[in-house]
Amino acid sequence: KKIVVLISGDGSNLQAILTACQQGKTGGQVVAVISNKASAYGLQRARDAGLPAVALAPAAFADRQAFDRQLMAEIDGFQPDLVVLAGYMRILSDAFVQRYTGRMLNVHPSLLPKYPGLDTHRQAIENGDAEHGTSVHFVTEELDGGPVILQARVPIFADDSVEEVQARVQHQEHAIYPLAIAWFCAGRLQMRDGAAWLDGQQL
Ligand code: GRF
Repeated sequence: KKIVVLISGDGSNLQAILTACQQGKTGGQVVAVISNKASAYGLQRARDAGLPAVALAPAAFADRQAFDRQLMAEIDGFQPDLVVLAGYMRILSDAFVQRYTGRMLNVHPSLLPKYPGLDTHRQAIENGDAEHGTSVHFVTEELDGGPVILQARVPIFADDSVEEVQARVQHQEHAIYPLAIAWFCAGRLQMRDGAAWLDGQQL
């Protein structure tokens, strides 16, 4: 299966996915990496892996619709089976989501439905949560609202900083995101009736 990964930043999840794919653990291959930020370190990771690394600058487009149209054209040029959002920090237009519905995944750093949106680690700490985590989900029009596939939990200890919690969460992301991708590539994972299904069982 062919995978296009969208990023905006460091790309540590991209790296975990690339490594898992190279090791034959996902049944898929990353065929391109696209970023809305030219400075994203993840683009360098893509180049180092010998992959097309595409930067698309939102400022060059009239509006979100125009940017997303070009993004869709770039993605479709690689004919992926799966689109993976890995730290892609840009709101998606409905037309974009609809085009890839059922074959687009995201990882969000909270135990959804808790804390959609930004700043999840700080919120979890400030609310005194003892437990936090991360979720892999199908992407729907609702921001961070699509059906959850897989979650990993981490503890929050007294005096943890945002950075410590984030590192703990990302360590888990690097394990669960390749696993969800492997399920998808094996044909075991679907989105149907607004829910995620694994081996015919609703998650
Ligand atoms: C991840 O923690 C992800 O949950 C969030 O943004 C972060 C991206 O990190 N959406 P990286 O670019 O994969 O290192």
